[in-house]
Amino acid sequence: MHPRRALLYMPGDDWKKINKSITFGVDSICMDMEDGTALSRKAEARETIARALQELDFGKSEKLARINAVGSGFESLDLQAVLPYHPDGIVIPKVESREQVEWASAIIEQAELEYGWPINSIRILIGIETAAGIMNLREIASHPRLDALIFGGEDFAANIGAVRTPEAWELFYARSATVTAAGMYGLQAIDIVTIDFKNLEIVRAEAEFGARMGFVGKQVIHPAQVEPAQLAFTPSDEAIAHAKRIVETFETSQQAGAGAYALDGKMIDMPLLKNAQKVLDRARAAGKA
Ligand code: COA
Ligand code: MG
Repeated sequence: MHPRRALLYMPGDDWKKINKSITFGVDSICMDMEDGTALSRKAEARETIARALQELDFGKSEKLARINAVGSGFESLDLQAVLPYHPDGIVIPKVESREQVEWASAIIEQAELEYGWPINSIRILIGIETAAGIMNLREIASHPRLDALIFGGEDFAANIGAVRTPEAWELFYARSATVTAAGMYGLQAIDIVTIDFKNLEIVRAEAEFGARMGFVGKQVIHPAQVEPAQLAFTPSDEAIAHAKRIVETFETSQQAGAGAYALDGKMIDMPLLKNAQKVLDRARAAGKA
């Protein structure tokens, strides 16, 4: 799966920002037709994104397009506008039922057949950002075309009537639910936007917290947030070295007939090995180790 440590949004009608986004070395670029685009500019966003998909070289950055929510009335035109140019994935915001994913997946499959592209080569990433999205996650997240669950903190707070605070405890249950569902289905969980984009200390701290919760990446809205986010979701050299030591010593311990053993004064057994392997997987995905 493509690494998505930072997923950068920009308004889909803003050619300048899209053109700039390909210079940041960001894992994922998400050209937005939803809330980043004014109601009066939806048509311009569709045209601009279609043009960007045809004309720009995104390099190693993934090219995503976010459509408007299923049921908004914009979603069909949004999808039809971008599918002919093979985006790597479609982001569907505010998903609340599996049927909404099925609807989009069927249209994407028609395009794959029509253009002779491999089936499932265009992935779906979904925004889980309402109470219904959280409550129905178990069914929604089982869809085979999904790569990632993107938790939207601002929308979720607005939906349940919570006050957003820097500590984000009001989001904690929903963030945990997202990471848990992602774990169940082998999907990526992508964490909240930090709207205070001038303050890099906040984005760094929030990204590190998200990484500790099990998220693999974070939504970002400004170029300055890309590096702190990508760094926070890349295992550190120390974490990699420690994980390698666990893998090596675990093997020796198994051969000696012990399931649990001591390393630097701490007990190591199977769950710690599994966690160490996850660290190494993430390091590899980030091009390290
Ligand atoms: N993607 C690409 N380039 C961006 C960018 C983004 N998300 N945000 C800012 N830039 C560019 C600006 O165009 C500017 O380029 P320039 O120096 O060539 O003029 C440079 O980075 C510095 O931007 P800055 O002046 O600090 O920010 P701003 O006031 O222009 O924009 C926002 C602030 C929040 C409006 C802008 O960052 C933005 O549009 N973010 C994305 C919003 C979005 O898509 N929301 C929906 C999803 S949550
Ligand atoms: Mg939103």
